[in-house]
Amino acid sequence: MSRVSYVNGRYLPHKRSTVHIEDRGYQFGDGVYEVILVLNKKLVDFEGHFNRLQRSLNEISIDINISEILIKQIFNRLIRFNLIRNGLIYLQVTRGVAERAHQFPKNIPAALVVTAKPIAINSVVEGKKAITTVDQRWDRRDIKTIQLLPNCIAKQEAVKNDAFEAIMVMDDGTISEGASSNLWMVDRDNQLITRKASNAILNGITKVTLTKLAHNHKLQVIERAFTVDEAEEAGELFITSATAIVTPITQLNDRIIADGKVGPVSLALRDMYLNMAI
Ligand code: PDD
Repeated sequence: MSRVSYVNGRYLPHKRSTVHIEDRGYQFGDGVYEVILVLNKKLVDFEGHFNRLQRSLNEISIDINISEILIKQIFNRLIRFNLIRNGLIYLQVTRGVAERAHQFPKNIPAALVVTAKPIAINSVVEGKKAITTVDQRWDRRDIKTIQLLPNCIAKQEAVKNDAFEAIMVMDDGTISEGASSNLWMVDRDNQLITRKASNAILNGITKVTLTKLAHNHKLQVIERAFTVDEAEEAGELFITSATAIVTPITQLNDRIIADGKVGPVSLALRDMYLNMAI
């Protein structure tokens, strides 16, 4: 069966799933998105993603009437139509199609597109290399907008350096987050540290859920910013996102983290998350 996507109320063959050239997402990056993990045909952390979507829409004043029930129905249909067991769903809402002018157009319908694709979930998780780079983004990183050029540049730098992720560093020397993930460290006292939600980062849904799971397992999570020096000295480093789930980082730039092996806390948290999701 060929791939199917959703475009403004219609399920279409993926190859014919198109939007107009004057869509404001295309011309201005005027839109927001979500990426949701599917495990064993089940949506992971659906509520969290739906609530963050509503928040992002609100923050940039995009008016669209989408109910939780409708979105869930679209997602579940795409899981079925595309025969997905484990996969990723991508949802994007843009302000819609209008003649090009910077100000928000009046009375145009917002555009909703959703795609789904299968992914492989490996049972053995490998440690990855990350690099550090300058965080060049705007001041509202808490909004999940589709304008991701600084993130793309950062990720490309990682790829050029044979790394899996780029860790972005702010002017004050603290780490904000990864190009498409949140960063955590386990310090030498076995405390979990990750940056507190603010305008400086996207508050990851995986991060929020993992914080709750850690608390349930009596692991303390300290929410504070940390520097590259601290990260290099960590006992363990890992990133979280809907796509990376929990992925250990065992090398930061040229520096091997601790003994260079995947650490027990990262592995335990990954298992906790997968057990919760399945
Ligand atoms: N990105 N920070 C940034 C900048 C991100 O782009 C992401 C996710 C996260 C983690 O958020 P969550 O746990 O809700 O996935 C943090 C998605 C996966 C992407 O752009 O593909």
